[in-house]
Amino acid sequence: MAVRPIVVWPDSRLREEAKTVETITDEVRSLYKDLWDTMVAYQGIGIASPQIGVAVKMFLIDAMVATGEDGAPPVAFINPEVIATGTETDKSDEGCLSFPGIYVPIERPAEATIRAMGLDCEMFEIAGTELLARAIQHENDHLTGKLMVDFVGPLKKRMIKRKLARESDYEGAEAEG
Ligand code: NI
Repeated sequence: MAVRPIVVWPDSRLREEAKTVETITDEVRSLYKDLWDTMVAYQGIGIASPQIGVAVKMFLIDAMVATGEDGAPPVAFINPEVIATGTETDKSDEGCLSFPGIYVPIERPAEATIRAMGLDCEMFEIAGTELLARAIQHENDHLTGKLMVDFVGPLKKRMIKRKLARESDYEGAEAEG
């Protein structure tokens, strides 16, 4: 297990389309453990594989948020698909490990149901409201390269970019405009 460096926006790896997990191998289990360690180290409630530079369809959500189980391992969502969202929306501040210190109010459906595969290869469905609905949609977005910053206007986007450039030692390989 290892804490991996977080990929910070505007790193282009956050825009890659994640690949489907074909089967649960030791590599996938090891990725899960690294994501777990990294999420805990950075005090996130969720983390997606592209955030540690691995473009595969898996994200984790803290067990307390996902199932209400205190102290259980984070829930792995592999090859997830959001299969339903409610018609009501909810606007609330969102944060992201790839945007350290940035919080953006984002309007999303207040309810979301997701279907995914677990580390045991079994399919499962979770229906969430409030924080869980938001976490499901936010983490699922990461697997298609969609980010928090896509919900804001160009001015706010520039402000976020400046703030991150100032506060991190990120030097940007292939930064987006
Ligand atoms: Ni995020």
